[in-house]
Amino acid sequence: MNSINKNDIKVFRTENSKLDQTDFENLAFGQVFSDHMLTCDFKDGIWQKPIIEPYGPISLMPSAKIFHYGQSIFEGMKAYKDKDGKVFLFRPMENVKRLNKSAKRLAIPELPEDFFMEGLKALLEVEKDWIPEKEGSSLYIRPFVFATGEGFHASPANQYKFIIALAPSGAYFAGKVKVLIEEKYSRSANGGVGYAKAGGNYAGQFYPTQLAKDKGYQQVIWTDDTSHEYIEEAGAMNVFVRIKDTLLTSPTSDRILDGVTRKSVLKIAEDEGIKTEVRKVKVSEIVEAAKNGDLKEMFGAGTAAVISPISGFGFRDEDFELPELENSYAMRIKKRIVDIQTNKAEDPFGWRVQV
Ligand code: COI
Repeated sequence: MNSINKNDIKVFRTENSKLDQTDFENLAFGQVFSDHMLTCDFKDGIWQKPIIEPYGPISLMPSAKIFHYGQSIFEGMKAYKDKDGKVFLFRPMENVKRLNKSAKRLAIPELPEDFFMEGLKALLEVEKDWIPEKEGSSLYIRPFVFATGEGFHASPANQYKFIIALAPSGAYFAGKVKVLIEEKYSRSANGGVGYAKAGGNYAGQFYPTQLAKDKGYQQVIWTDDTSHEYIEEAGAMNVFVRIKDTLLTSPTSDRILDGVTRKSVLKIAEDEGIKTEVRKVKVSEIVEAAKNGDLKEMFGAGTAAVISPISGFGFRDEDFELPELENSYAMRIKKRIVDIQTNKAEDPFGWRVQV
């Protein structure tokens, strides 16, 4: 595989920056896109040199395999700026490695790691003014790969495109997060693609999530596809449950995404002296704990969601409210993570990477 340095990447600058028209004080999640993107094509059996070009439409043939067979994977990351204007990423190599894990499962050619990392660094140098300074906001980074090669034959394409697009973003959830524990539909199955960040994993959730939204819930918590007795993950995040003083989360498997925030939460909880258990968590155990007052907290963890407290959940025809705690695990752990991400605290784990 060929290698690359960020200084080798050609930059084609836009003459129409949208920076001045962007309201950085009122950012939604993933709705505004920065001026430039990184693009890189796979053809003739190799990944070609990436370039940075103005963010804008791309041209594809109607027979491109992405449209027919959904060969598409992505990542989610964030860039943060500290008070001195220094730019940081959080555990970026985890995303590089996971993209290639997803690529392998979807029969997409793996991307050389330095194409991703050097490409991202070069892009962030060009786009550093797009990184919000407001607390709670950051520059959401969306690296993705999809099949551009043509053909109706149901087999892997021979051409692909890797893009990194950037979206200055605020919180993923606008308000309280109520979840519905789902028993009918499944997100993933043993031997399937659940652990990969495949676009289709998310598309498959839209319909059941819409049904849940119609009933007043923001997210679905998926249960295992065979017994529906154990919780797995939610639509946009991994899930943590606190019963009494123990923090529980499901083990990753080939059905569950190995979230970077998930594993950071576990490490920080351990560092804070919080008892954690990574084990299968029964729905009945959560319901019983909610009924007898032992269920103290539930929260989601993800790059976009950061740590999102869950205010209540629905199961079958019952609704359960969670208490609002003063010094919740969710808020304690969130502060530790965000302070590391934004260079407000020491980083004993070596997670922060300056760009
Ligand atoms: C992320 O947290 O970055 C994700 O990719 C989840 C997505 C549903 C926003």
